[in-house]
Amino acid sequence: MALQAAALVPSAFTIPKEGKSSASFKDSSLFGVSFSEHVKADFNSSALRCKREYNQRNGAVRAQTTASAPSVTRASPEGKKTLRKGSVIVTGASSGLGLATAKALAETGKWHVIMACRDFLKAERAAKSAGITKENYTIMHLDLASLDSVRQFVDNFRRSGQPLDVLVCNAAVYLPTAKEPTFTAEGFELSVGTNHLGHFLLSRLLLEDLNKSDYPSRRHIIVGSITGNTNTLAGNVPPKANLGDLRGLAGGLNGLNSSAMIDGGDFDGAKAYKDSKVCNMLTMQEFHRRYHEDTGITFASLYPGCIATTGLFREHIPLFRLLFPPFQKYITKGFVSEEEAGKRLAQVVSEPSLTKSGVYWSWNKDSASFENQLSQEASDVEKARKVWDVSEKLVGLA
Ligand SMILES: NC(=O)c1ccc[n+]([C@@H]2O[C@H](COP(=O)([O-])OP(=O)(O)OC[C@H]3O[C@@H](n4cnc5c(N)ncnc54)[C@H](OP(=O)(O)O)[C@@H]3O)[C@@H](O)[C@H]2O)c1
Repeated sequence: MALQAAALVPSAFTIPKEGKSSASFKDSSLFGVSFSEHVKADFNSSALRCKREYNQRNGAVRAQTTASAPSVTRASPEGKKTLRKGSVIVTGASSGLGLATAKALAETGKWHVIMACRDFLKAERAAKSAGITKENYTIMHLDLASLDSVRQFVDNFRRSGQPLDVLVCNAAVYLPTAKEPTFTAEGFELSVGTNHLGHFLLSRLLLEDLNKSDYPSRRHIIVGSITGNTNTLAGNVPPKANLGDLRGLAGGLNGLNSSAMIDGGDFDGAKAYKDSKVCNMLTMQEFHRRYHEDTGITFASLYPGCIATTGLFREHIPLFRLLFPPFQKYITKGFVSEEEAGKRLAQVVSEPSLTKSGVYWSWNKDSASFENQLSQEASDVEKARKVWDVSEKLVGLA
């Protein structure tokens, strides 16, 4: 658990950005890490019955699909009933962690992955090049930066008649070099609007679908990050996550009559990302407190490790993108391959040993999972309730 990298990580130094302005390297350790850090059950026909009834109620099925709905494993000749394929939605499955997770799950033959992506063609190409076989995935359009698109996605998903057993909120944008804020369709700052508010609406709407599933272990997973946790070295690299008193969020994050930042401060793209991750981790815990006992659904978050090669860093300066992977590999030793990170998230989706709810999972150097501690802010019960209440209003649920 190594704070050993601390001395090696510059807290902030600057590099000229392609000869023009200077861009800060202050975030280089954010994702850095080693700073420290089926179920067997009988299938019964109720899922099919639900699906039939749902289709009858809703008329013809229409969805943007490239493959058929999950199949059901027939009873063996000996009369043994076997578990049907699990049905999992993964947002942002067109690259990086989401794609690696989709691949890891599909490869088991036990999961049908609904890849919820904003770019259909990119997702299709990604699935093909990852070698995911057609019968194991469906692509459905979802743009988390538009609440209309989120609602449309939920509608399309329901019309497809597929059950929902696990929801993985994975997609994210990270805009560390942005000088000015950009906004979602509804006018929320893009990082928090996409990473938190889009997922918040999606999760709230799909809770009902998760709750209907007859799958033995239903799970809702929101991908977190070390960078939002100020109890870690990486989380202490400026700018630090801080939601303050939520005045910017309450004001709508529109940059006009309110700040584009949750705490009401000046815009900072790297901080907006970290703040959004704090919201992700708070939201997971609030879901757990509100719904776990009644529904039995497992709510979890995780830090998969520093996957320094993903598209998450696409907006960073070229030099950062060049140096970040070797820096993580050889200096902090926090580097995790996309494949390994995908296996980790796939564990949180399907491992029978990871059913505990309200947990933030991490992995040690030997790739063994453990329950990690969240920072004070990322586990603040009162703040979680407030973020929930304000978010509910912003996405039109209250
Ligand atoms: N990389 C790391 O070191 C690291 C560390 C800790 C946590 N994480 C977390 O891991 C998750 C995945 O990140 P990644 O590293 O795999 O990055 P990535 O390769 O950039 O993947 C992000 C995914 O999100 C999608 N996305 C972005 N905006 C969207 C929108 N408006 N609607 C729908 N999808 C959208 C992207 O779609 P396009 O393909 O269309 O762009 C892409 O598929 C994030 O939650 C991130 O916070 C990453």
